[in-house]
Amino acid sequence: MDLLPVAQKVIECCRSLALCSEEPGATTRRFLTPPMHDVHAQLRAWMERAGMRVTIDAAGNLRGFYTGESTTPLLIGSHLDTVPHAGAFDGVLGVVMGIALVECLKKRPLRFPIEVVGFSEEEGVRFGVPFIGSRALAGSLGPEALEARDAEGTSIAGAIRAFGLHASEIPAARVSGVLGYLEFHIEQGPVLESLGLPLAVVEKVAGQSRLDFVFEGQANHAGTTPMPFRRDALAGAAEWVISVESSAAESATSAGFVATVGQLDVAPGASNVIPGSVRATLDVRHADDTVRHHAVAQLTDRAKAIAARRGLRVFVHTQLDHAAVAMDWQLTEKLEHSLAATGLRRHRMPSGAGHDAMILAPLMPAAMLFLRSPGGISHHPNETVLLEDVAAALAVGLHFLEGF
Ligand code: GLV
Ligand code: MN
Ligand code: MN
Repeated sequence: MDLLPVAQKVIECCRSLALCSEEPGATTRRFLTPPMHDVHAQLRAWMERAGMRVTIDAAGNLRGFYTGESTTPLLIGSHLDTVPHAGAFDGVLGVVMGIALVECLKKRPLRFPIEVVGFSEEEGVRFGVPFIGSRALAGSLGPEALEARDAEGTSIAGAIRAFGLHASEIPAARVSGVLGYLEFHIEQGPVLESLGLPLAVVEKVAGQSRLDFVFEGQANHAGTTPMPFRRDALAGAAEWVISVESSAAESATSAGFVATVGQLDVAPGASNVIPGSVRATLDVRHADDTVRHHAVAQLTDRAKAIAARRGLRVFVHTQLDHAAVAMDWQLTEKLEHSLAATGLRRHRMPSGAGHDAMILAPLMPAAMLFLRSPGGISHHPNETVLLEDVAAALAVGLHFLEGF
């Protein structure tokens, strides 16, 4: 079967979905914002043409079910939300690949059903807490989690209501008795390209911590307050941001350790007012949870020391502490076997990015296939994939599913 036209269709679909956005000219699609309706409509149409029964669960996950001989399905999925000013492939590609594979297999009787899932949320952008969609499938999205609020004060439960769904029905979204979970995803880094490889299987997803640090000083007049009298929250936060970067860069003992301050909210935020308060996010990742926890403690101590020296106060809130997760070895071996069977070199690698697979892996066998990211670029409009790599991933997927 010539898979290049199918790969072309996959890429065109991802690019078309990238136009469903909260802002014109850029791809920004947070949890259950209005453009997610358009994404669902486009994917639903393709799923139905491929012979799938389509539903949307109460957490806003789009689910397409394709019947097989047995009753125990294999899940294939990834997420449909994006970071601000995203590319066209992070998440979406894994959903579109699932539909394309079902369509390729359509003419042949399937021994097991396939459920393709487009998770409503993975990035954690709108509510600061990631994996809302996959946590609903895992049964770990309790009522307390639904109280988290976005910058406008809307709760997760409120966003679900505004989308036309009922949060009280989330328990019904939970899955049980499935064969496993398969996720196709772009690598989002430069490793495969540097090795000249199109694909790799993922062996482990790094653990991640996400925290909010609030530095509080004293807002005051920028023209009248002499320098020694200031308690500038932004200057303190800035000193800490630099120390986060240098401590991560120096951490030679732990390859793969990364720490990022990705967001600063400065209040009151005027050029003639000394900043009184700053909220800074911290994202720390490593494949070894002990290394990660130690780093978070060290960076927290550093924030407190800087704040104390500058007469500031600092408040720390942990949003996420997710352990590193290994993929299922049997499923991963099967996937690796499919790589070899389609003429590709076997390669295993860890993932520094978080994925829905890390939420589902404790509950079911899970495996992931990475596609090379040209230029190593992701979470950016220039994020892309190569046509031949998508065709190769489809071939691996077909071999995997046919031999399952
Ligand atoms: C998801 O994109 C992550 O932040 O790893
Ligand atoms: Mn992402
Ligand atoms: Mn992703």
